Amino acid sequence: MTAPTLEIHLSDADLTAALRSDATTGLTSTPKTLPPKWFYDARGSELFERITALPEYYPTRTERALLERVVDEIAAAAEAEVLVELGAGSAAKTRLLLTAARAAGPLKTYVPQDVSAAALRESTREIAAEFPDLAVHGVVSDFTDTLHNLPGGGRRMVVFLGGTIGNLVPAERAEFLASIHDVLEPGERLLLGAGLVIDPAILVPAYDDAAGVTAEFNRNVLHVLNNRLAADFEPEKFAHVALWDAEREWIEMRLAATEDMTVRVRELDLEVHFARGEQMRTEISAKFRVDGLRAELDAAGFDTEHTWTDPKNRFVLVLAGRR
Ligand code: AVJ
Repeated sequence: MTAPTLEIHLSDADLTAALRSDATTGLTSTPKTLPPKWFYDARGSELFERITALPEYYPTRTERALLERVVDEIAAAAEAEVLVELGAGSAAKTRLLLTAARAAGPLKTYVPQDVSAAALRESTREIAAEFPDLAVHGVVSDFTDTLHNLPGGGRRMVVFLGGTIGNLVPAERAEFLASIHDVLEPGERLLLGAGLVIDPAILVPAYDDAAGVTAEFNRNVLHVLNNRLAADFEPEKFAHVALWDAEREWIEMRLAATEDMTVRVRELDLEVHFARGEQMRTEISAKFRVDGLRAELDAAGFDTEHTWTDPKNRFVLVLAGRR
């Protein structure tokens, strides 16, 4: 076995600088917003893991079951020598893909990318031990701006699972898909997992569970601001809101101030006023239609080669080739 490598393109100082910039912009705009990537410190990642096991949160188990069913077809169609996984995190679904790609033949290298060095250090070690003759090169970076650092060395498949593409608004998605197009060669592939538009009666509870785990996950962004930027948010004074925007076809999570408040963000030298009832957007989770996704991929220079959906039509896996 070759020891796994870990390339760090994003230090703790880079992360803090990015958070400062996002928090300054988001807390001073009207309405206030914060980007969802800041949910995921150690506590937030743990809360998200708990979300994936909730009865209401269907996406993770739906995608996993779908992947189990079609992974051999994906591996046979993709013929990947290098598997690049964006937002790999704990690499939970990756084993399925790696096992199938090995069985199908040519896979030589696995490149998991994530913002969390801790998660990658652990998963690269585990994967390298489990797949002794696979080269494992972890990359710590922000997938939206460090794609050009991804190594080549054979026919690549970029994998982006979980429906996280839905965290981006359409213009950001176009830019993101174009940046993947830029780093790939003609004929290389992208495997995308995305949540589909379904009945809001099922969708909304997935983002507003009875046990309140999603509410705690949502409020965690305030803990992150308290810890990283010495802010004095009182998270329990913000209520969790999840609503379906039928026009834009996305779930929007917000935090609603339950009373008038002035919050200090010491590291930013900033005072932020919240009026009672004021809502701050913390995440969008867009849902897709298969044709819409195909059109977005086409516009970014990808031909959709295969689509697979689960029996209830809640989730899709798309395999697309770069033109
Ligand atoms: C990890 C971005 C796919 O949008 O469903 C879960 C995050 N937010 N519950 C999603 C999330 C609220 C999740 N993704």
